[in-house]
Amino acid sequence: MKNYETESTWHYHNGTKHPNGMLLSRFHVYHPSHRPTPYKIYNNAQKINLPLDKNSIGVSALDAISNIIDTNENTVSNIDTLSRILYFSVGITKKIKFEGLGEMEFRAASCTGALYHIEVYVVCSDMPGLDAGVYHFDPENTKLDIIRLGDFRKTILDCTANDQSVRDAQVILIFTDVFARNSIKYQAREYRHAFWDCGTILSNTLAITSAHKIPSKIITGFVDTVPVQLLGLDITKEAPLVIVPLGISKQNIGPNLPLEEVNLEAISSDYEIDYPEINAMHESSCLQSETEVASWRNQISRESQEYDKLTPLEKSIQSLEPLENVILKRGSTRKFSLESITFAQLSTILNKSASGINSDYTNKETILSDLYVIVNAVDGLESGSYYYAKEKNSLQLLRKGNFRHVSGNLGLNQDLPYDASVAIFFMVDLSRVLEKFGNRGYRVAQLDAAIIGGKAYLASYALGLGATGLTFYDDAVTDFFSPYAAKKEVMFLLAIGKKEKPTLHHTSS
Ligand SMILES: Cc1cc2nc3c(=O)[nH]c(=O)nc-3n(C[C@H](O)[C@H](O)[C@H](O)COP(=O)(O)O)c2cc1C
Repeated sequence: MKNYETESTWHYHNGTKHPNGMLLSRFHVYHPSHRPTPYKIYNNAQKINLPLDKNSIGVSALDAISNIIDTNENTVSNIDTLSRILYFSVGITKKIKFEGLGEMEFRAASCTGALYHIEVYVVCSDMPGLDAGVYHFDPENTKLDIIRLGDFRKTILDCTANDQSVRDAQVILIFTDVFARNSIKYQAREYRHAFWDCGTILSNTLAITSAHKIPSKIITGFVDTVPVQLLGLDITKEAPLVIVPLGISKQNIGPNLPLEEVNLEAISSDYEIDYPEINAMHESSCLQSETEVASWRNQISRESQEYDKLTPLEKSIQSLEPLENVILKRGSTRKFSLESITFAQLSTILNKSASGINSDYTNKETILSDLYVIVNAVDGLESGSYYYAKEKNSLQLLRKGNFRHVSGNLGLNQDLPYDASVAIFFMVDLSRVLEKFGNRGYRVAQLDAAIIGGKAYLASYALGLGATGLTFYDDAVTDFFSPYAAKKEVMFLLAIGKKEKPTLHHTSS
């Protein structure tokens, strides 16, 4: 076991807790009329139009999120498929008019404050319709900005210390975070949001690639400076978070190409402010060399536990609702009715969304997060607090009771978690994760929770329900679920229930 420095993570994590984290100002205000442009704009890049087909290919959303599709040996066959992967990850799916603010564009995946601070880049070999190169996806215009031409996959392969999925991949996606676009509202807590909002996008990316039978993997361990240089980023403003290799390439990866400086005029945010705590947390979780990546790479397993008071999950519901339809209709619920959902619906959501993530930090069937649930209104299940015993496919009753007021309170005193039928808190034993992964483990823990949360969003909509991510009072959540969760920290919160009829005016996208 390595002896990692983990003080930086505790400093950041404790300092950005609600309500009184010392890195957050209580006097900070944000008004939506100050929302920064949610797109990175390349003024002098050459652009490639992407074809866009939003039709369903007939795979159900529940199958697509649940790791059951055989994805072996499939390629990203052409630019059309690549375009669908990008669109169903971060594309514009709806436009809503708000009085005084005008029309706002919303995306395929949920995002805190609708600030859309995650950017996606493509590194690929030649494919029908697209030359090998390094590109930025422009979701506003459904185009690719050309950053470099040539096959640069070897650069990424090296920085992942030779990850086998990257070696095989035909396309490699790189997800980055533009700090200022989100910190304008959330201050230093932004660095948590980076992984939350990247995670909900990744749930879509994993689902759409799996619907196309294309293999994918979440890579969290890489030499951070390499994608920075390859993409020409200003690391103080925009940082790479995750690398996702896709598909099996028919073309062997070539030699390294020289990395000339990127001379493009790019504006990643029209609002600029630095929160040094974000940069410090990012830097302290960086990996410096291939040797460090290789020795960092590790797999965490779930701790075995004794359980009592188990209620087995009900059989999953077979919903045939296609993935694409679910992504197009998803939108965070703004008002839940107080009605119940069924235990079969809750069982399906838990079973499908927590089925496992193919990643460099766990094996494919495992998740890092522990799911704690407040059941407010579920037909066939007593109200109370529960722990999802994944290994037993059951819920363990922790405490019986009506905890609506508690879920409302824990979710920052908002109506949404009060009105919802269930609230799922994604928690981790952060000390254990940091012991295994050092400060980099903080990224892993946040991301794992957010990917499962994003899958649960999709599962809820596939079943005709509503859902919303929420923020929370950190230590109050731990206290409420203690002694069971005494050592655990909350990473993500999702409320699920039946939607009350929408009153907002939607226009077509
Ligand atoms: C991690 C996360 C936390 C969120 N927290 C809140 C919240 O505390 N309150 C709220 O009303 N909405 C919350 N949202 C919902 C976002 O405001 C919503 O995703 C965003 O406006 C984009 O809209 P859409 O999800 O309908 O596409 C959260 C979303 C995410 C992903």
